[in-house]
Amino acid sequence: MEVVIRPTEADAVRLTAAILADDLRKNPEMVFGLATGATMEAVYAELTRLHREEGLDFSTAKTFNLDEYIGLPADDKNSYRYYMNKHLFNNINIKMANTHLPNGMTDDIKGEGARYEAAIKAAGGVDLQLLGIGQDGHIGFNEPLSSLASRTRDKSLTPATFRQNSIYFDPPESMPLRAFTMGVGTILDARKLVMLVTGERKADILAKAVEGPVSSMVTASAIQFHNNVTVIVDEAAASKLQGKEYYYWNFNHAPEWEKYR
Ligand code: GLP
Repeated sequence: MEVVIRPTEADAVRLTAAILADDLRKNPEMVFGLATGATMEAVYAELTRLHREEGLDFSTAKTFNLDEYIGLPADDKNSYRYYMNKHLFNNINIKMANTHLPNGMTDDIKGEGARYEAAIKAAGGVDLQLLGIGQDGHIGFNEPLSSLASRTRDKSLTPATFRQNSIYFDPPESMPLRAFTMGVGTILDARKLVMLVTGERKADILAKAVEGPVSSMVTASAIQFHNNVTVIVDEAAASKLQGKEYYYWNFNHAPEWEKYR
């Protein structure tokens, strides 16, 4: 795992988007795993800018999102399909048929996970999975105690997640209490993981996930098992990390980071 600390949120966002863009330029048929949440909005704005101003071409890319609320239709402004269309898909030249999220309106809740897994497999697997982290340490919606071998399935959300996400709902109580999410095992199958974490409020959970013991109580800690992980953070989120000196040192000296310095 590599941790990269950038001075500000804007720098961390730009680096994250630059890594996605570089991979897409190298492989126009990239399969991206995508994430939602407030943190990612700026990443999608930057990818949109790169598309409009630098011609970044998404025409043969495919995407699979991590998760979706159960019971929200695509036109509900709190569904993750709505979020993705608004913040990214409507603004770039991706083919909508190549964008995938779990179907929150399916009649077959128990079958949806297997269907989604099969679609990921048919696309050749995820090349780069973008990740955020929830206040309770979740990746996707893999809440505490999710098996570290879990696959895409329906999951009951925690009170902590309800508190974090219900602010976007009107009234807050209308937030669904269940969601589909890729499993931790599904996420670990991606060929590369890029996690973006910004802001002081994430400092404690970030330190647990990155430097703490691997535990299903903090499902983000499972990324320690993956052999190609970059965690990009701003100074505020990095404030509780023990290895800061090394992380700065590595970014400032390692040849693979030269073009991003
Ligand atoms: C939701 C998503 C997660 C995301 C998290 C972070 O819970 N299911 O995938 O990491 O939000 O949200 P934010 O960026 O708003 O802090």
